[in-house]
This record gives sequence, structure tokens and C-alpha cells, in this order.
Amino acid sequence: MKPRGLWVAGNWKMNLGVQATQSYLTQLKQELRASDFTPSHSVRLALFPSAELLTVAATATTNFPLPLLIGAQNVHWESKGAFTGEISPASLSELGIPAALVGHSERRQYFGETDETAAKRLKGALNAGLIVIFCVGETRAERESNQTSEVLRRQLAPIFTSDFQKEFESGDRILIAYEPVWAIGTGLTATPEQAQEAHQEIRLRLQNAFGSSASTRTPILYGGSVTPENAKDLFSQRDVDGGLVGGASVDPHKYAALVRIATALSP
Ligand code: PGA
Repeated sequence: MKPRGLWVAGNWKMNLGVQATQSYLTQLKQELRASDFTPSHSVRLALFPSAELLTVAATATTNFPLPLLIGAQNVHWESKGAFTGEISPASLSELGIPAALVGHSERRQYFGETDETAAKRLKGALNAGLIVIFCVGETRAERESNQTSEVLRRQLAPIFTSDFQKEFESGDRILIAYEPVWAIGTGLTATPEQAQEAHQEIRLRLQNAFGSSASTRTPILYGGSVTPENAKDLFSQRDVDGGLVGGASVDPHKYAALVRIATALSP
């Protein structure tokens, strides 16, 4: 059994439009209401549409058969100011959008996100009361040169500080996603053993930084080409508490299939 339950988080990236969002959520609602589906309280659902779709998605998921968190894919560290194109955490919470991703590798790769700015964004989001999935993971070159562990240490160092101690101890607003960059959108998935090894390392680092309660309570999600075909083996690993899913989450059937797999593992 999964002591922390299982998360099925979908990162839509910049893939669905307004109409597609509405029909996706109508279809998902039907799938989750199907007579052969028994919801489980220990499975947590989240979807991360692009910013312009947040209110469309939030409106379409009120009165959903299961609680479903809607979150932004990025969030700024300040609540307001001269930051053209950024997303205010305060406005998100005012809109009733409860969650955000921070530090996704595509933000790091294409938009200059650094370990330090990601930590600032996490702080800003927490101050606004949001739940955050904080993403880390190594590139292919880093894995091939045996630097995975060092990369995780470096990416986590700015958030494994006393500034975040309380939040990690309370264990319900910071999630970590281990997303090896070489597995994102490539169809290459970490083997369950590779995922478990990285997750175990992150949990150990949590323990060293904040003690055992934080380490036991913090969910660590795996991301990188998760599909209904490989999810069961990945989600069954001891330290894998669900997935942050890109490509497969853009199809409501596949997302619902992932929810079913998580439900079967976490009744
Ligand atoms: P993927 O994306 O499932 O398409 O590999 C995962 C992610 O980027 O969060």
C-alpha cells in the first residue's frame, strides 16, 4: 500500500485550447463517473493548464465527481510589480487557483530559470497559500557522466534551507517531482529501479535537511514519459508517490486510465 497515497498530476504544457479544455473536462467527468470506477480518497488529482486556460478549467471542474486541483505551470516570486508576462501568485489565489508548478525543466531550459529563481518562486507561491510541485532532474549528459546525485543536491540546495523548514515539516504544500530531462517527451522512461533510486535519494536528502517527519510526509512524484502502460510499475515503487505526466495527460482517456491505475494501487 502507498503510505502517502498517489498523485496523478497532468502537465498540459501549451497543448490544449479553450474548446479542447472544455471537451477534455466533459469527457474526464464522464470517465470518473462511470459505474465501474470507485473513487479513492488517497488518490489526488491535479491538472496544470496553460495560464490563459486556468479559469476555463477551474469553472469546468466545479462539481466534479472527484476533487481536482487546477494549477499554473509557473508563478512569479513577487505578488505584483513590473514583471511583464509573469504570473502573480496572489492573483492565482484570489482566483481560487490553488496550485502551481515551479522549476519545470522546460522553464529551466528555455526561459532562464535557475536553481535560485526556482527557490524564490517556491517562496512566493507558498506565501500566497499555494500548493507547489517543485521539479528537479538531470539531463542525459549529466546521467551519463554519473552526476545525477550531484545535480539533485545542487537543485534542491536552495530549498532545503531553514526558510522552508516549517513547510516541509507540515508536509502538505510542497511536493517534489523527479523528472529526468532525458525522459521528458522522449518516450524514454526511467526504469522503475532508476526512479526508485532517485526518489530514495531525494527522500534521504529531505531527512538530512529537515528530519524524518518531513521526509516521510513529502510526496515525490515521478515525471518523464509516464503512460498507462508503464505507470503501474513506476507507481508501485516504495518512494514514488504518483506522477507528473505531460504527453499522456493531454488525452482524457489516458489521464483517466492513470487515475484508475493509481486507484487500484491505493484503495
Ligand atoms: P512527458 O512530460 O510525460 O510528456 O514526458 C512530463 C513533464 O514534462 O512534466
